[in-house]
Amino acid sequence: MNTIRIPRSLSLLLISVANAILHSCYYDNEQNLYGVPAPCDTLNVSYTAEIKGIINENCKNCHNNTSASGNLNLESDSSRVHNIDSIISRISLPAGNLKVMPTSGPMPSCNIQKIKAWRKQGLSITN
Ligand code: HEC
Repeated sequence: MNTIRIPRSLSLLLISVANAILHSCYYDNEQNLYGVPAPCDTLNVSYTAEIKGIINENCKNCHNNTSASGNLNLESDSSRVHNIDSIISRISLPAGNLKVMPTSGPMPSCNIQKIKAWRKQGLSITN
């Protein structure tokens, strides 16, 4: 009988390669583990670490020094503080509403919750 003999060291290697491939598709995040969205942390929201980036990524393209859609320039930190009420009213509109911001549709709810929490917590731009 012609059985192919695989040296023990090679078979151990094959097993660890197979193991690595099988496990590479496994993401150990809360959503997959529990089937519920990861909670949104709105305690002590930071402008510099969170809010600034959300507005830069979602709003600044259309609301900046050279192109201020709707006559609204959101380039500076102070303009964001100053316009917080209209910002919150527009980002809180439901999908399909013609006035929702960004125009492509509402942001993920956690972004909206964080911006609302930032207002509640006093609109600091330094923390
Ligand atoms: C793709 C371009 C675009 C993006 C991105 C965008 N906007 Fe706008 N925005 C507009 C346009 C165009 C108008 C004017 C028309 C209107 O009022 O709906 C406007 C109007 C507004 C107004 C009303 C201004 C006023 O005083 O009448 C607010 C507030 C606003 N945007 C906030 C935001 C915020 C906050 C974001 C990000 C979450 C955002 N926008 C993202 C294009 C954009």
